[in-house]
Amino acid sequence: MYLWGTRLWKIIGAVNIRIKIMGIVLGLVILMGVTVTLQVRANLIRTLDQLLEEQSVSIGRDVAARSTDLILINNLYGLHQLLEDTRTNNPNVRYAFIVDPQNHILVHTFGDGFPAGLLEANATDSGDHHRTAILHTDEGQIWDTAVSIFEGRAGTARIGVSDASLRVMLDALTGQIMLTTVLVSIIGITAAAALTWLLTRPILQLVGAAQAVERGDFRQRIIRWANDEIGELTDAFNAMIAALARAQDERAERDLLRIEYVKGVISAQEDERRRIARELHDSTSQTLTSLVIGLRQLSEIDNPAETRQRAEELRAIAAQTLDDVHGLALQLRPSVLDDLGLPAAIQRHVADCRRRHQLDIDLAITGFDDERLSPEVETALYRITQEALTNILRHAHAQTASIFIERSNGTVRAVIEDDGIGFDLTQSEPLDGHLGLYGIRERAELLGGKLTIESERARGTSLYIEIPIDGGSQ
Ligand SMILES: Nc1ncnc2c1ncn2[C@@H]1O[C@H](COP(=O)(O)OP(=O)(O)O)[C@@H](O)[C@H]1O
Ligand SMILES: [Mg+2]
Repeated sequence: MYLWGTRLWKIIGAVNIRIKIMGIVLGLVILMGVTVTLQVRANLIRTLDQLLEEQSVSIGRDVAARSTDLILINNLYGLHQLLEDTRTNNPNVRYAFIVDPQNHILVHTFGDGFPAGLLEANATDSGDHHRTAILHTDEGQIWDTAVSIFEGRAGTARIGVSDASLRVMLDALTGQIMLTTVLVSIIGITAAAALTWLLTRPILQLVGAAQAVERGDFRQRIIRWANDEIGELTDAFNAMIAALARAQDERAERDLLRIEYVKGVISAQEDERRRIARELHDSTSQTLTSLVIGLRQLSEIDNPAETRQRAEELRAIAAQTLDDVHGLALQLRPSVLDDLGLPAAIQRHVADCRRRHQLDIDLAITGFDDERLSPEVETALYRITQEALTNILRHAHAQTASIFIERSNGTVRAVIEDDGIGFDLTQSEPLDGHLGLYGIRERAELLGGKLTIESERARGTSLYIEIPIDGGSQ
């Protein structure tokens, strides 16, 4: 049973909606046509049978009553006339005949011979006034009624009522109902086809659009045909495609920026290495060379006073070289960031900027309490501060700048502001080598944080950076 259920469900599930709906409509119409036809036929046949039996009896009685006198005066012609009249007045009467008490046929309505066996098929029992038998013949059913004439002393009248003509009518009626069923089926199928077309058209469109989106074509839009649920689905689908297209564009733009940033970082690294190599070659190695030559000369000098003076000069050169190397190392990566932590490194960088530029820099760092952050966060915040300060020095033309860094509740917040010329945020184009601000945002977002920029022309610029630091102390 269950197996049959699943098999049936498989078949129903496999055909498309159009066939499902048409199948339902057709099935219902045919079921209804057949039921109505069968019911009407059964009822009609029952009623007609009853009617024919009654007719057979009443005609039989009538003939018996009217034939009594004719038999008594032996008027065979009159009897014959009576039977003929009865037949013409009642089209359902198939035959009529009269027998005398000895069961000899007096008159009958059969033109071409009396059928064999008919005489014995029915008779009144002694004492009965009449009796009806149903005869099944080649022509159909016949209600044969035998009525005694003059209590049987004058013979018996027999009337056969056939259902042939009524059956023709019944068949015509059945045919009409069947025809109506077929017509209604055709109308139903047409209506179902139109309905399913209306229903499935937007669904097929949705399928097509979904496939196009899967191939990466986001230009697809579905036409809204109606204001029903499918219309709402269409709107939702269009909105979804639009959102996907937007997301795709944003992703492409981000990817482009990231590539640009990586390229920028790589070329900046190369530039830096080239500069350091040149600096090492130009100053450090040259001073070291002169130091080597000086030391060789020193061993050849006899005069102690001159030796001391020369040694003093060489010491000065060595000290200079040491300074240079130290400076280079600091530029590469301030060891103070690793050794002493973020606050100390930023303080040193700010002090350096104050010394070298005409800029008033306010610095406040709170909430650190000698606790270290993770190296990534420390490096990111140091480079962010460095880049922001460089931008202020290079672009802002500011009188004062302020740096405020606060650590609290599992986040570090940095606010870097200046009172300089400001810039138009909508026009700050991160491409074309201007990657400083993009780099700040990228560093913050890589650590799960974010950057907010506020800038106004002639008022200055503020950068707000927020970076989470998982639970605090490291
Ligand atoms: N503090 C600031 N004051 C004024 N303009 C700024 C400031 N910071 C950035 N800008 C503007 O934003 C642009 C982009 O900055 P950035 O991404 O760091 O690139 P770059 O410094 O290489 O030009 C700068 O060219 C400058 O016009
Ligand atoms: Mg910059």
